Amino acid sequence: MILHQKAVFKFIVAAYCVSSISLSVAGEAIPESSKPVTEQLVNTLTKLSGGPHAGYRANHAKGLVVKGEFTPAVSAASVTKAVHLQSAATPVIVRFSNATGVPNIPDADGNAFPKGIAIRFQLADGSYTDIVSISVNAFPAATPEDFLGLLNAVAASGPGAAKPSPVEQFLGSHPAALKFVTTPKPAPVSFATQAFYGVNAFKFTNAKGEVSYGRYRIEPVNGQQFLSKTEQEKAAPDYLMQELPARLMKEAASYRISVQLADAGDEVNNATVIWPDTRRVVELGMLTIRAVDADGKTFEKNNMFNPLVLVDGIEPSADPILLARPSAYAVSYGRRLSGQ
Ligand code: HEM
Repeated sequence: MILHQKAVFKFIVAAYCVSSISLSVAGEAIPESSKPVTEQLVNTLTKLSGGPHAGYRANHAKGLVVKGEFTPAVSAASVTKAVHLQSAATPVIVRFSNATGVPNIPDADGNAFPKGIAIRFQLADGSYTDIVSISVNAFPAATPEDFLGLLNAVAASGPGAAKPSPVEQFLGSHPAALKFVTTPKPAPVSFATQAFYGVNAFKFTNAKGEVSYGRYRIEPVNGQQFLSKTEQEKAAPDYLMQELPARLMKEAASYRISVQLADAGDEVNNATVIWPDTRRVVELGMLTIRAVDADGKTFEKNNMFNPLVLVDGIEPSADPILLARPSAYAVSYGRRLSGQ
């Protein structure tokens, strides 16, 4: 394992708790701009959601936990020797979610996009590995600092802000952010009719030692389906969270997980640079969701998905957004566990 899951989380969470205790002992407030950028990101996400909302995630707060299994495709072994991508099926826990830290955001609200999927592969030795992806094949910033710049600009652009507002200025000078916010994000009929994208690249190594960089794709086998604009306007606040349980009572929801491979010379460390659709895509296997997880509420509160809990055969790229995610998630997780 690249990171040793529980031990590492406890260490990161403990480190954050210790730093906040030492703050209060010293009695001096640290200026926001002197805090680690990942902590500032969580603070701004919390502010944007009107939080803190005790016990919820600072982002992707509203979610639904389901379970099923993943069955690898024969082609997966050509890309990676990762244990869960060889021949045996692996049980999975999956959390679908809405963007923002607003726990009751209506599923069709414009701010509830991108949608999220977090997949936990429960490995035979008791450990796990995660994939955490979104419904847009893009990200608005190449670095955590730029992402913080965008979020802070949004936070400073309330109704009374002078024109051009801070966010208008930011988007005017950051084309990737402008592209992300203007990319259409139609409301899916169901989480089962929505595709998801890994956006950050990983380094894959197969049993022969051959290396390639790739980005995950998780696509519904029956294709994508979206609501019309009128249907979206009329959609019930929890329509997605209610639709999936009803669907799963009748049938499983299946997705093909694959990896889009970079060509030599493609940018692998910048999540704002999306590779052309002509790049080779290799199927990794089939994700089948079968039922709502009856313990899902407890599970989502007590667990943190982490895109960097990896197994031999998959390593992170040097993408700074990818590398920042675990510590941002740990800040949010630490607060969730301590009821903040
Ligand atoms: C620096 C960039 C990012 C920041 C600061 C950030 C922040 C966060 C935070 C604070 C959480 C809550 C974690 C928890 O409390 O357990 C979260 C969850 C999530 N993030 Fe990010 N994120 C970033 C980039 C991304 C990217 C690139 C993706 C996908 C490609 C993504 C997808 C998700 C998803 C799907 C969840 C929900 C996971 C779950 O269901 O537990 N995030 N993010």
